[in-house]
Amino acid sequence: MKVLGIESTAHTLSIGVSDGPKILSNVLDTYSGGNEGLIPRKLADHHATVFSSVLSQSLADAKLSIDDIELIAFSQGPGIGSPLSVGVSGAKFIALKYNKKIIGVNHPYAHVKIGEHFCKMKKPLILYLSGGNSQILIEQGGYYHVLGETLDVGIGNLFDSFARAIQLEHAHGAALSKFAEGGKYIELPYTVKGMNLVFSGLLTQAEKLANKYEKRDVAFSLMETAFAMTCEVTERALFLAKKKELLVCGGVAQNKRLQEMLKSMCADAEIKFDVAPNEYNRDNGAMIAYAGQLLYEKYGAMPIEKCIPITNYRIDRIKEILG
Ligand code: FE2
Repeated sequence: MKVLGIESTAHTLSIGVSDGPKILSNVLDTYSGGNEGLIPRKLADHHATVFSSVLSQSLADAKLSIDDIELIAFSQGPGIGSPLSVGVSGAKFIALKYNKKIIGVNHPYAHVKIGEHFCKMKKPLILYLSGGNSQILIEQGGYYHVLGETLDVGIGNLFDSFARAIQLEHAHGAALSKFAEGGKYIELPYTVKGMNLVFSGLLTQAEKLANKYEKRDVAFSLMETAFAMTCEVTERALFLAKKKELLVCGGVAQNKRLQEMLKSMCADAEIKFDVAPNEYNRDNGAMIAYAGQLLYEKYGAMPIEKCIPITNYRIDRIKEILG
């Protein structure tokens, strides 16, 4: 089944095409607003401006025309309302104009399914880490459940906020990680509650110390502390759930230091660890297309009146939304 997937939950507008397990195209255009943060209106304007060219490029890369597409899948949430609405409206426009079936896709579900696909894993413990989300997930009876999660900000937003606070030119996790290379460790607040994480105290203290110590050392310590907290809750969940496989997915899963720490933890416990290629851990349309087909096969197409953005759409609500 040839599926067109549209992703627009945050700073990236991406459109990809899949055909069952095959990814035929994956075109991304990311808004880069320097260090001013994610301003919803600007993200929405960016997505609307590049929508047509990203769509044309995606179909061209897949060597298909819109007539060949059988299903339109769109990222339904969670996400930032304004940019999310652009993707949802674009999907509805295409479905109505060309008389296509349509389905809304939970964004974390798409990250999980594309990760499981590339890593050839079935029912691993999942660590999902992105800008707005940090969750430990488990599949049971065909549904995903949240075993643990951040109780305040997502780990990606923690890094972005600190990068903005120290006025990095490009205020995002990858830039912060590069900036932090070679830093020395300073003790910072470390807060885990069972399998949940709390990052706000860590951020506040790091921002304070950034005026007192070398910024590089504070950046390094912030990332080390956040990753160590994440490893601790993941290890606890692995043992409680008696899992032998760990998949990390989402934008922050691309971080090499995090991967190294998780790999070492898993090696000690004889647990298989894996992560999908970076292109599929970023926000991308191909994962929405791939996951859209899986959801369509289970739930069928979505009536057009249900195609609305759900900014707080949790992975454990898929049955309620689609069932
Ligand atoms: Fe994401």
